[in-house]
Amino acid sequence: MPHVRIDVDRRATIAPVHRRLFGGFVEHLGRCVYDGLYEPGHPLANADGFRTDVIELVRELGISMVRYPGGNFVSGFRWEDSVGPRAKRPVRRDLAWHSLESNEVGLDEFARWLDLVGAEMMLAVNVATRGILPALDLLEYANHPSGTALSDWRIANGTIEPHNVRTWCLGNEMDGPWQTGFMSADEYGSIAARTSAAMKTADPDLELVVCGSSGSQMPTFGDWERIVLEHSYDYVDLVSCHAYYQEYDGDLAPFLASAVDMESFIDTVAAAADHVGSKKRSRKRIDLSFDEWNVWYLKEHQEAAPDLSEWRHAPRLLEDVYTVADAVVVGNLLMTLLKRSDRVVSASLAQLVNVIAPIMTEPGGASWRQTTFYPFAIMSRLATGTVIRPVVQSERYDAGKYGDVDEVDAIVTVDDDRAAVFLVNRNLDESAQVSIDVRSLGCSRIAEATTLADADPHAKNTRADPERVVPRRNVSGAFDSGTLTIDLPPVSWTAIALC
Ligand code: AHR
Repeated sequence: MPHVRIDVDRRATIAPVHRRLFGGFVEHLGRCVYDGLYEPGHPLANADGFRTDVIELVRELGISMVRYPGGNFVSGFRWEDSVGPRAKRPVRRDLAWHSLESNEVGLDEFARWLDLVGAEMMLAVNVATRGILPALDLLEYANHPSGTALSDWRIANGTIEPHNVRTWCLGNEMDGPWQTGFMSADEYGSIAARTSAAMKTADPDLELVVCGSSGSQMPTFGDWERIVLEHSYDYVDLVSCHAYYQEYDGDLAPFLASAVDMESFIDTVAAAADHVGSKKRSRKRIDLSFDEWNVWYLKEHQEAAPDLSEWRHAPRLLEDVYTVADAVVVGNLLMTLLKRSDRVVSASLAQLVNVIAPIMTEPGGASWRQTTFYPFAIMSRLATGTVIRPVVQSERYDAGKYGDVDEVDAIVTVDDDRAAVFLVNRNLDESAQVSIDVRSLGCSRIAEATTLADADPHAKNTRADPERVVPRRNVSGAFDSGTLTIDLPPVSWTAIALC
């Protein structure tokens, strides 16, 4: 069994644990909203039509902030359609997902749902096909207390207190040719700068997120960030990053190293932002909002011929069923966001319910946790205080396109007299025997040690077998004279809480 040594020095701090790294994403896409979190006919629906079983699961997941209402959807969205009396709300075609949008759920209902799940809202404006005035109108409707046409309209619609949304996205993936109203970097940079300047005139304390590239595979990756920020640097606060990973052709070795790619993605975007900041002699630093990340079997979805024969409301779209290996990768991606919390201050797992999601539902029926639910929920609960960079001495392996990569990866958080260690073992066949010197953390015992693994790394939770994969207590964990030892099974994710 390979032996891995890890040293932890609590002085090797990276940054505080940003709660907003545990964010999610709800888009009007497929069955995320309708027949997902909202299903008025369901026996467990509340008076607003929201499923209380889903609310409980979202609370258990520990989501801090939710990006809304898209995604690609936002680029064809008229926000005014989704407020006011439901009976008067129009049904529209959503070109992004070739679906019908009933607008039964809009800003005011979604804000009420967020109150129930205990999360903050991150709201996107449509800069693709609308513009500055509709963005300002939405800001007035959402945040102005009262006494203006749009704030009084919100009050008349039943929402007395302003939503007070602090974080706003300036459109979505504007570099993508699939995006309704896509733009060149110069076009988008200009409109993002002018929209931000206007929004900050209304409220200088807003936090504005400008679109970065849709992914590192985009031909303009890096240049896009540079050009967009050359226009907008002085007006925006964060630049967005989006990354999705998948196992290609049954080749687990590179897939398990996806976090290595995420880290170099972060380096590239931070370097582009700092380059522009240096050229402008700016004292301001632009940080990163990783507001779409997940495992997504996109290649398979792209290869399947889209059904364009009809326009349907809430069709089943992008309903990936996740494996143990997918959960290990998701856990490792979240560890990487913590590791890079020196630059990444906000993140959103994309998405939340049914659509590439940790939570699944059936209309009129059950809801259940996908494999990917567990690492997120456990990390959201245990990662508090400050992120610490451990020194890991691990065997390495050939991860194909990602080169030679550590078999074991780790990150640590510490909070007064509590700490948490998160680990992955990317070895396909062998367990790793890990010893961790944690003397500097000042803890004396293991409070919990949990591992997600399975003899079959492709095991999944399904409607028929929703608890096929669950995290289990790792009984190999031991603590002696400041050294923690534990065995990590092949293809596994582990969390250890110390106190
Ligand atoms: O999350 C699904 C889609 O992925 C989003 O709508 C879009 O922003 C991205 O391409």
